[in-house]
Amino acid sequence: MAKFNPAVTEQPAYKITALQDKAKALRDQGVDIINATIGDPKDDTPAEVQQALVHALTSKSYSQYPSYIGSEELRMSIANWASATHGIQLDPSHQIMACNGTKEAIYSFPMLFDWTKGQTILIPSLSYPVYQMSATAMQIPTLNLPLTESSGFLPNLDAIEPSILKNAQLFWMNSPHNPTTAIASKSYLEELVGLAEKYDFLVCSDECYNDLYASNQPASILEIDSEHWVCFRSLSKRSHMTGYRSGAIVSKNNALMGHLKKMRSPMGVGTPSFIQAAATWSWADKAHVKTHRDHYNQKRQKIKTAILSAGLDMFGGDAGFYMWVKSSRHSSSESLSQWFLDRGILVTPGTVFGPDGDPYIRMVFCLTDDVLDDCCQKIAH
Ligand SMILES: Cc1ncc(COP(=O)(O)O)c(C=O)c1O
Repeated sequence: MAKFNPAVTEQPAYKITALQDKAKALRDQGVDIINATIGDPKDDTPAEVQQALVHALTSKSYSQYPSYIGSEELRMSIANWASATHGIQLDPSHQIMACNGTKEAIYSFPMLFDWTKGQTILIPSLSYPVYQMSATAMQIPTLNLPLTESSGFLPNLDAIEPSILKNAQLFWMNSPHNPTTAIASKSYLEELVGLAEKYDFLVCSDECYNDLYASNQPASILEIDSEHWVCFRSLSKRSHMTGYRSGAIVSKNNALMGHLKKMRSPMGVGTPSFIQAAATWSWADKAHVKTHRDHYNQKRQKIKTAILSAGLDMFGGDAGFYMWVKSSRHSSSESLSQWFLDRGILVTPGTVFGPDGDPYIRMVFCLTDDVLDDCCQKIAH
């Protein structure tokens, strides 16, 4: 029998998936449970997205392979969006690539680099688990950058030893941050890119929550002129298109993008052309994103009120659709998760995102209005 790769098979299961199994098991036992664990918007995808997809699917025959880098129309739509939103001028032929949602693009990205001399990937100690899981699978050494409430849940750039920065090739940055909702300012991102230029590493800026903010649009790495970043943007959250699998990889580093094209070409990650047509509409339309943002602001207000009136504490909460919650009555994520479960709400223990997640939990509010109202009542009682 072929020998399995222990770097893959001995990894712990993806904990967010394990929580979905738990929610299903509880429901199968007849427990009435609200699943507030997964950042998967429950409101509908805009009708225009569906129409664009159906139109593309029925107006011509699409039996051929799709473009694995995205159609010209799609890349142009992304370029126009980036210019209008972040003031960056991008060459759609060399600086933009489509992906099947950003998860696959993030997971495979480190494969592009040479790891034979013990170079590392820097990962904040609380992070989207895919950064670490991909590094582990590829047997790439990683270093955790501690995140604490006192440093605003952003890596303390001044505290990172130069020797660590010298040996790093990639630095995963995620703002607005999952799970803590921390937002990096423009000057923070400038300082980070300055370090990347000085020590010659690449900032991998994962920005899938950037369009969902309470008042001001958070800064984006796209606003900083440099060849030392790559940016991952997604339609999943802002356009309620998790089921479509569509995102963008952007960089001003043409050599990097050329190599990435070469790497992704045999991977079979071309997004079906009719989904690309829907994505082309989505990047071009500002109105539906504002509608979603406004709606999340109402939901944000409701959930904040419920959390605070139940005597719980929260950090941030001004972007994305998560709440990062702790309580003086609970010394661990597990115990606070149990408090929520006792009220019929399944949340994600903070420790799922790394050891610094104690004593927090993450709960989502990308629920339908009815379910969110029910959730708020359950928290209040
Ligand atoms: C921080 C972060 N990055 C990337 C993703 C992947 O999103 P998608 O693959 O849907 O674009 C997620 C999804 O939850 C996320 O939270």
